[in-house]
Amino acid sequence: MDGSDRTGRRSQAWFGAEGRSGMLYRSWVRNQGYGPEVFDGRPVIGIASTWSELSPCNAHLDQVAEAVKRGVWQAGGFPLVFPVMSTGETLMRPTAMLYRNLLAMVGEELIRANPLDGVVLLSGCDKTTPGLLMAAASVDLPAIMVTGGPMLNGKYRGQDVGSGTHVWKFEAEVKAGRMTVDECHVAEGCMARSNGHCMTMGTASTMACMAEALGMQLPGSATWPAVDARRFEVAQQAGRQIVDLVERDIRPSQVMTRGAFENAIRTNAAIGGSTNAILHLLAIAGRLGVELTLEDFDELPLPVPTLLDLMPSGRFLMEDFCYAGGLPVVLRRLDEAGLLARDALTVTGAGIGENVAGAECWNDEVIRTMDAPLQPAGTGTAVLRGNLCPAGAVLKQSAASPELLVHTGRAVVFDSPEAYHAVVDDEDLDITADDVIVVRGAGPRGYPGMPEVANVPLPARLLRAGVTDMVRISDGRMSGTGFGTVVLHVSPEAAVGGPLALLRTGDRVTLDVPARRLDVDLPDDELARRAADWAPEAATDGSGYRWLYRQHVRQAEHGADFDFLAGNRGSAVPRDSH
Ligand code: FES
Repeated sequence: MDGSDRTGRRSQAWFGAEGRSGMLYRSWVRNQGYGPEVFDGRPVIGIASTWSELSPCNAHLDQVAEAVKRGVWQAGGFPLVFPVMSTGETLMRPTAMLYRNLLAMVGEELIRANPLDGVVLLSGCDKTTPGLLMAAASVDLPAIMVTGGPMLNGKYRGQDVGSGTHVWKFEAEVKAGRMTVDECHVAEGCMARSNGHCMTMGTASTMACMAEALGMQLPGSATWPAVDARRFEVAQQAGRQIVDLVERDIRPSQVMTRGAFENAIRTNAAIGGSTNAILHLLAIAGRLGVELTLEDFDELPLPVPTLLDLMPSGRFLMEDFCYAGGLPVVLRRLDEAGLLARDALTVTGAGIGENVAGAECWNDEVIRTMDAPLQPAGTGTAVLRGNLCPAGAVLKQSAASPELLVHTGRAVVFDSPEAYHAVVDDEDLDITADDVIVVRGAGPRGYPGMPEVANVPLPARLLRAGVTDMVRISDGRMSGTGFGTVVLHVSPEAAVGGPLALLRTGDRVTLDVPARRLDVDLPDDELARRAADWAPEAATDGSGYRWLYRQHVRQAEHGADFDFLAGNRGSAVPRDSH
């Protein structure tokens, strides 16, 4: 089956088939009460839903799917909803990141295997957005994304409370004795008070904005709260638009070009987005064969100030961002500064610059102007190199303490996040505020799955003494809602014998962000001696998905995708058994 028939519509290779096989395809779909008219050659639109009650951030996507279906019918298409693996950040162990690639595989295979002409991608929680974009990129059928939208602002004792960000803050308050456990229990109920994903500029909000900046979701879609009527209106609009994309044969490979990725990277700097976007954009680009390097994430944003005053770097939340005008305002400001590849095609069928030309800002405090930004240009993500991270590491400057950006200290090394947590509150732990906390064994292969553990909480004794930040270094990730002077994604990771594996407590480590360096003060021959003595830990899982993951996951600078999934495999179905 080559993916299309004489009408050119891919779905007609199924539903337009003559004889027994056509009857098989049509008859079983009709058990849902559809008449024969739905097989008349109209575009068949799959709605790939990551709905799950085990992914609380996506638990309302069944309602969003209904709105999309309305739009598809309105435009003359035939919508069919199908479930794709859902990866909820909060409940999945050991980490949802372990399953992003699996989600992408499931999505890719389901889209290709079914009689679809186009697909609407419904996502929300962190990994669901990149996972579906990776899937769509690898099949390259017309696609449009609808993210589920953020929760309403959290409210506790009259204050805005940000999901994720306040988990860290409340934990530190309790540890420092400034908040009781009972008060913390009340606060946790005030944090997530509606459907939707995290409403800080964490990974979910970041990736929703990335999808919009890449041109894969309609202008303004990233920010409408999950419970706002306009979230459903925009979903309906996406349902209409996907039919148009199919008619015009506009595919993800035409939308997610190098220019679109440049727009996304600069947008991420302007919104103070999550460092996780680096991994996800690298992985999506890898599926499309778009040339993207770690250095792009340092160099492209250099002229871009942080415009958005949102937690964790600032004060406000996604609801405020939405009411201030949403992402189109940020994109317009980038465009006016000559920092947007304005002709990059989007799912509207127009260039992104044209889409946002009329965007108006209703609150310059939330979305700052280029002249009065939250953080000046050059304070975005720093990509570090050095003898501790020859293949790179990243640091989110806007979440770091300025006084720690150049710092030398004694390394205090832990072989795993668990090893750190076991002793962190030990009153006799030999650690001072000037030390550098190193948590290794948290990389893509080592954990496996690269968990968000790099911003480990500080020792209780130091918190009580008023210490608010320390330099931390890890081959793991940091939650998009986290903050601190944290070096992330150190590559190669310790589990594959990267220099981080050779570090010992007592070694002197220097972080120099302006120079983009991370080094241990050891001569090369000493590092070579230690490397000769190093041996990888024996893998404990010899089968199953975790085995597959360990065998094939690539390092952070390649987006932690599987080596065998790079590239675009198209939509053709190789064989048909019917
Ligand atoms: Fe789902 Fe934050 S936990 S978006």
